[in-house]
Amino acid sequence: MIQTLKGEKVILRQPRYDDILSYHYYASHSMVGPNAGWLPHENLDESKAALKFLIIEKLTWAITTKDDVLIGTIGLYDLKLDKEKSCYIGFSLNYDFWNQGIMTEALKLVLDYLLNQLKFNKIYASCYEDNFRSQSLLKKFGFSKINERLEYQLIFEKEKMVYDYMIERGLL
Ligand SMILES: CC(C)(COP(=O)(O)OP(=O)(O)OC[C@H]1O[C@@H](n2cnc3c(N)ncnc32)[C@H](O)[C@@H]1OP(=O)(O)O)[C@@H](O)C(=O)NCCC(=O)NCCS
Repeated sequence: MIQTLKGEKVILRQPRYDDILSYHYYASHSMVGPNAGWLPHENLDESKAALKFLIIEKLTWAITTKDDVLIGTIGLYDLKLDKEKSCYIGFSLNYDFWNQGIMTEALKLVLDYLLNQLKFNKIYASCYEDNFRSQSLLKKFGFSKINERLEYQLIFEKEKMVYDYMIERGLL
């Protein structure tokens, strides 16, 4: 499923154990994880365990620069491979690389692959109501907001409003 996808700015590939330092750098920044629902990694061991999980699970692309440095991830969740053929995507990027159109390119590669090559019918994504960057990114691709819900967030120890978005094949 995690086939290598090549763009102008980035290459998406399977994560590897030797990505650990760039993975830890990206995952320990305070602006990255909390916007996507996870806590910044506190030490290298935590990042090693998380990276090992991604490598074994094989449902996450490493977003890498042209010189093969990991600067983010795009993961698939809740895959339904029956008639529905749908999944959720989650994505996040090294803070140093924000606002350069990188996730726009990476998401385009992944959505095209999932919807047009693998013929998924629906792709879902969820984000917090105050995550305007992510919302404008999803809307740019034609995602529609299908639901909003208050959900208890363990990492914030409070409820937060979550918006659910969806795109169907044919609408990309
Ligand atoms: C969300 C995230 C992946 C965006 O990555 P990125 O590479 O910076 O995104 P891009 O540069 O491709 O595009 C960002 C879009 O948001 C817009 N944007 C930037 N700041 C914004 C703001 N404060 N409010 C609204 N839109 C904003 C940009 O203008 C751009 O849209 P445009 O191309 O139409 O101009 C990145 O900010 C990130 O990793 N955030 C933390 C994790 C996260 O939120 N993950 C998503 C969870 S649902």
